Amino acid sequence: MEFFRRQLCSFQGKHKFKHDNEIMNVPMQENNNLTTDGRVLLKAASIYDLVQPLVTLGQEKRLNNWLAAYLRAAPASHILDVGCGTGLLTAAIAKYYPQASIIGIDASKPMVQVADKKRQSSNCSYQTALAERLPFPDETFEIVTSALFFHHVHLKLKEICLKEIFRVLKPGGRIVIADMDTPYTKLGWALSVGAWLIFRQPEIKENIDGKFEVLIPECGFVKLEKPARFSGYISIWSAVKG
Ligand SMILES: C[S@@+](CC[C@H](N)C(=O)[O-])C[C@H]1O[C@@H](n2cnc3c(N)ncnc32)[C@H](O)[C@@H]1O
Repeated sequence: MEFFRRQLCSFQGKHKFKHDNEIMNVPMQENNNLTTDGRVLLKAASIYDLVQPLVTLGQEKRLNNWLAAYLRAAPASHILDVGCGTGLLTAAIAKYYPQASIIGIDASKPMVQVADKKRQSSNCSYQTALAERLPFPDETFEIVTSALFFHHVHLKLKEICLKEIFRVLKPGGRIVIADMDTPYTKLGWALSVGAWLIFRQPEIKENIDGKFEVLIPECGFVKLEKPARFSGYISIWSAVKG
């Protein structure tokens, strides 16, 4: 059992599993020397797109298409996707809004490389960067979105990332975030609690306990709404830079 847990955990970043990965001889972070407390997916890059539909109980495409439509972006909008991974959401947004410019950032170079390889639209691009230190000037984006990133960072980092997002948003700009929340179905509970226990990931427990949502208004956002839920454990939050 412990062997399988270690194998699963090896798909996540080194820093949280220093001891485990030293034993398994996993190489040091391959993400352009970006150092973060976040759980960066390195080895998972090659299989991520196969696993994600399973993890979302077959809802991956529906979720990303729903998010893209919900952004209601004006034609020339600048949109940022934080923790973009292999670009599943970024690509859906780029397709939905051909006249907008979309940038996806992720701390994992392998994930960004996969995203870039699949890139089909000229209106989207990808960068290796940290959510807690976004490489953009203040007030750059009309919309910042993010899917399933915040359960990869601990509570303090969740707050720092939200404040960074606030900084790069234009006044009146919007956030639309999809992430793990208090589950609302039995399967959702099983998946969330299972992931928390298997990965020994307190960041997930924080989301299960509803601690993420509370941070959104604390970081200056107003008009907080929760317009939809998916897969028994994922919620969508929308709010505006006040
Ligand atoms: C579960 S994946 C979500 C990917 C994508 N948004 C999706 O919906 O498929 C979480 C991503 O967060 C990234 N990540 C973790 N810590 C990060 C940080 N501090 N800054 C940027 N990305 C980070 C991981 O490398 C991983 O690709």
